[in-house]
Amino acid sequence: MADAVVDTVASVPVAVIGAGPAGLMLAHLLGRAGVDTTVVDTRTRHEIETTQRAGILEADAARDLVDTGVSDRVLREGHEHEGVELRFGGRPHRLDFKQLVGASVWLYPQTDVFTDLADARDRDGGTVRFGIRDTEVLDVTTRAPRVRYTTPDGARHEIRARYVVGADGSRSMCRNLVPEDRRVRVGKEYPFAWFGIMAEAPASAPELVYAHSEHGFALISQRTETVQRMYFQCSPDESAEAWPDDRIWETLQARVAGEDGFRLNEGPVLEKTVLRFRSFVQEPMRWGSMALAGDAAHTVPPTGARGLNLALHDVKVLADVLLRALGPAGEAALDDYQPRALQRIWRAQNFSHWMTQLLHTPPGGSPFDLRRQLGELDNVVGTRAGRSYLAEQYTGWPVASQG
Ligand code: PHB
Repeated sequence: MADAVVDTVASVPVAVIGAGPAGLMLAHLLGRAGVDTTVVDTRTRHEIETTQRAGILEADAARDLVDTGVSDRVLREGHEHEGVELRFGGRPHRLDFKQLVGASVWLYPQTDVFTDLADARDRDGGTVRFGIRDTEVLDVTTRAPRVRYTTPDGARHEIRARYVVGADGSRSMCRNLVPEDRRVRVGKEYPFAWFGIMAEAPASAPELVYAHSEHGFALISQRTETVQRMYFQCSPDESAEAWPDDRIWETLQARVAGEDGFRLNEGPVLEKTVLRFRSFVQEPMRWGSMALAGDAAHTVPPTGARGLNLALHDVKVLADVLLRALGPAGEAALDDYQPRALQRIWRAQNFSHWMTQLLHTPPGGSPFDLRRQLGELDNVVGTRAGRSYLAEQYTGWPVASQG
């Protein structure tokens, strides 16, 4: 296929595979510095915009959207949250991020981040091709990598680039271009998944509620005044169809129930999906003229709300090294990417894994496991160090404090 005839050939400094938040933010940052990109994605814009993803942005990431000129919509339509509630043993415990570490997060769904970035690309005249197929990435170990793809109208295109970025998500094909004997993949599977719903109902709490119970974990999040997002721990092979609304509400209510009489506001379930997750990192994050960013290089369980933030941090570093690599520094500038991105990645891997094991009930767990977990939760909310630890990790690490 590599030698097949193409209909058009175009040259661009950086080709980006994947038009999710990582790929589009990278294109935006490079565009601001005068560097053109072509971004391609097999999904349509509509598919990306309507696939529910997580909803928490670090304050720094929210500020970057505004300060780099993507959009200030996050400030108008997002909601700043200065804390979260941890519920366990039937009791609520609020962690006040502002008071503990002087930070907050923004509830602003990833689908909105995507829409803002896609609109900004349109506004700024950036090239993004949605709904393409048969993507091939060629010659990444040379100084002239190429990307070939077919547009929905059947035309075959070739992009000649100096660098290629694989921002193609957790099922990345770009990461497979690093030869098997040169890459290391580490990770962990979990014996549970999340059952995610969108429900038409008013919010049940002012902030997010992360609930531990002997029946399993639940997370109460929000979307709008009339639509809420909630999750509960389920088996990875659960089928969403097997869950009528009544059973969903009964399960969620049991997991948040407590001596304070807390109840969720119920309403019609608009959408239900079983979300499997894992922890995963591939190194190296750069191979020849190709770099990997976001979920393509690493994924985390959603419990710590780190995934999107981590992807945005990757591309902030990557934009900086790519701009230098396109200048007099040349390809050697790319050597900085992995060391600068990896520290935060492993901090987030640890935190996401920690939050996951802290709050989920392992199938077959013993009474000792459950009591130990309650002891750990008590250490988290009942000691200043515990509260500050969670607050600092959850709100992200200031760039200056790295190292
Ligand atoms: C969400 O609102 O979808 C959400 C929030 C926090 C998480 C995960 C998902 O940790």
